[in-house]
Amino acid sequence: MKRVLVAGATGYLGQYLVKELKNRGYWVRVLVRKNSQINLFKQCDDVFIGEVTNQSSINGITKDIDWVFSSIGITRQKEGLTYMDVDYQGNLNLLQDALKNKVQSFQYISAINGDKLRNLKIFEAKEKFVDELKIANLNEVVIRPNGFFSDMKDFLKMAQKGRVYLFGLGELKLNPIHGKDLAKVCVDKMEEGVKEAIVGGPDLLSQNDIATMALEAWNKPIKISHLPDWTRRFTIWLLRTFTRSKTYGPYEFFLSAMAIDNSAPQYGTHHLSDFFRKEINSNGFES
Ligand SMILES: NC(=O)c1ccc[n+]([C@@H]2O[C@H](COP(=O)([O-])OP(=O)(O)OC[C@H]3O[C@@H](n4cnc5c(N)ncnc54)[C@H](OP(=O)(O)O)[C@@H]3O)[C@@H](O)[C@H]2O)c1
Repeated sequence: MKRVLVAGATGYLGQYLVKELKNRGYWVRVLVRKNSQINLFKQCDDVFIGEVTNQSSINGITKDIDWVFSSIGITRQKEGLTYMDVDYQGNLNLLQDALKNKVQSFQYISAINGDKLRNLKIFEAKEKFVDELKIANLNEVVIRPNGFFSDMKDFLKMAQKGRVYLFGLGELKLNPIHGKDLAKVCVDKMEEGVKEAIVGGPDLLSQNDIATMALEAWNKPIKISHLPDWTRRFTIWLLRTFTRSKTYGPYEFFLSAMAIDNSAPQYGTHHLSDFFRKEINSNGFES
């Protein structure tokens, strides 16, 4: 059986990736940053403590490893680190160690349309790493997922207050995906040796559909406000002009991603409406 490394194992997708790999019988090493995270991975074969942004701390992390899965990335720039520091340089540090140790394949999680929206700060960093990966002397697998269910909670938060606000007509489509479904696809694509895949969930939904689902999950009347698209463009301009990239990066990403069609090939079995209801019933939902 292959020996694999999961970097990003503590994240939303990473935790499902680890479970999927262990269920399929792989030997799994995970990268964590803190001692306190070790207990999360009792089912794993090895835990490596290191910080991807500090090359010397991950020296040898890929020793005796066949495949690397990296879902390392940040949406909100924190701890004084930028997208370039983590999404690009952190992953590059990992790739350099993988090359030194003759790893066969390296899978990286970018995002749907990342290659088309390279002008956004977040994608500038992710796609710069994709460029490096594509010319590296190993097999590359680039996964471009649609929005994760975990990110759709923003709709739920708005719906809790009784009204969902959308830019434009709300007719643009996306098919968000559950982490468990995405993890299965990631491992399948690695096993199949596919070089690049765009991946979405089973249900192709308009933004209006998602807003309606979120309001229904709270048993609220359907109230959706459509803001003219110029307000979205103006907000991006204001943020870019008057704030630093650390502040505007995530908003620029969200506001731009919502203004394009994000339909992707459909995979998986988990439905967003069930996820919304579970989130509300689990008491874990924070308003
Ligand atoms: N969320 C979406 O809708 C979406 C859609 C498409 C693509 N993506 C991309 O998919 C990837 C995985 O997403 P996710 O939701 O699973 O992310 P996540 O839950 O935020 O997890 C990110 C992982 O990266 C690690 N990490 C962050 N900063 C780090 C640093 N400085 N050094 C070492 N590790 C660091 C985190 O470790 P700690 O736990 O120690 O912080 C965590 O394991 C990301 O690159 C994301 O941009 C996300």
